[in-house]
Amino acid sequence: MSSESQRMEKIVSLCKRRGFIFQADEIYGGLNGVWDYGPLGVELKRNLKDYWWRVMVRERDDVVGLDGAILTHRAALKASGHEDTFSDPMVDCRTCKVRLRADQLPEKNGVPQCPNCGGKDLTEARPFNLMFSTQMGASADPDSIAYLRPETAQSIFVQFKNVLDTSRKKLPFGIAQIGKAFRNEINPRNYIFRSREFEQMELEYFCRPEQGAELLEYWKNERLRFYENIGLPNEKLHVLTVPEADRAFYSKGTYDIEYDFPFGRQELEGVAYRTDYDLTQHQKASGKPLDYFDEETKQRFIPHVIEPSAGVDRTVLALLCEAFAEETVTDEKGKSETRTVLRFHPRIAPIKVGVFPLLKNQPALVEKARQVQALLRPLMNVFYDETGAIGRRYRRQDEAGTPFCLTIDFESLGERDAALRDTVTLRHRDSMEQERVAIAELPARLLLAIA
Ligand code: GAP
Repeated sequence: MSSESQRMEKIVSLCKRRGFIFQADEIYGGLNGVWDYGPLGVELKRNLKDYWWRVMVRERDDVVGLDGAILTHRAALKASGHEDTFSDPMVDCRTCKVRLRADQLPEKNGVPQCPNCGGKDLTEARPFNLMFSTQMGASADPDSIAYLRPETAQSIFVQFKNVLDTSRKKLPFGIAQIGKAFRNEINPRNYIFRSREFEQMELEYFCRPEQGAELLEYWKNERLRFYENIGLPNEKLHVLTVPEADRAFYSKGTYDIEYDFPFGRQELEGVAYRTDYDLTQHQKASGKPLDYFDEETKQRFIPHVIEPSAGVDRTVLALLCEAFAEETVTDEKGKSETRTVLRFHPRIAPIKVGVFPLLKNQPALVEKARQVQALLRPLMNVFYDETGAIGRRYRRQDEAGTPFCLTIDFESLGERDAALRDTVTLRHRDSMEQERVAIAELPARLLLAIA
């Protein structure tokens, strides 16, 4: 097994052992391509989404948010082209009955074969629609079909007019959304990388046609900066200019932002210039005007759109892969051991700070530690732990990716040196260095580090 596959296995095992990610319905044998996020995973994911929302919506004057429904009108996904063309070419292996993506088959001497059994007896390729459909209401006629949305983008286009009228934004402006999307992927794989239920963080940024090309560059650069700001280093991020032949026919330009995962370089996000395709389609199909009236020029036109579309789960996986490290350290008694640590950027770390009384059987230490916990809890995610040796408690937080730990010891009570009363030991995850900090300084100090 290659060292990168071993690394991936270790990450998957840590994620299960520490409560980041579990297979959905595991006790029933699991649901293929569907995942649940455990106590640490949900915090990591939430921090990622919150940071995206902060920089893409709250810190900008030109972007507003939307939380659209998952159940989607069939007509909307007919108009967008999904009902007719959102499909992968698929073949069945007649030998082992496995269904496979026709465009991903390994070949031997130029002949495609089944990666499962090596068989060459494959059916002709057929399109396989990736959307999950469901029935709404009691009747089972075709009119009651609704879809689980395959991307969050469509509700933004469908609600374009309502948002424009109520927010009174002027071009260029954007509508952002974070939410679940569903695709019946034929081969879900690479852990949470390609799943059947996943989350997207999408922005549809509307503009005048003549601004499109420049804004595509602008958003590509903004999005690269975002990934660096959550701890993915520039040298592991790559921009692929999608060739015209591989782009959607309506796209005037698409970049894929890729990351070097242990299983290879793969897409994190697409930044696409979708022209006026979507609004035009929905205007035609619904018969409702989805155009924009320019007060200055008195012109009416359908805006163009630039779409940075990121995957939450893929970014979570990239963050985990980037953060995972094993290193040899020497303990207080001179013994070498392996330290497993998740070096998350403090801004996305699930737990920001661990709070430990040195000894759990000393009420004065426990009381002060609880006071520190109560001081910080309204500001950030704090984990209180009083069990086990202090070194073990640090190691547990290293594995969870907690950037800071605070130990409340006898010095904190001012018993030996009154000058140290109400101070704690602040231990840094990455350097393992420790320093003495006044409790009163902690909120400002830690808030700055996790902002
Ligand atoms: N609205 C445009 C759109 O949906 P996409 O390239 O199909 O474009 C955008 O998807 C992003 O959503 C991808 O870059 C990826 O991060 C994420 N994504 C797509 N399919 C996924 C899947 N099956 N599992 C996890 N993430 C997925």
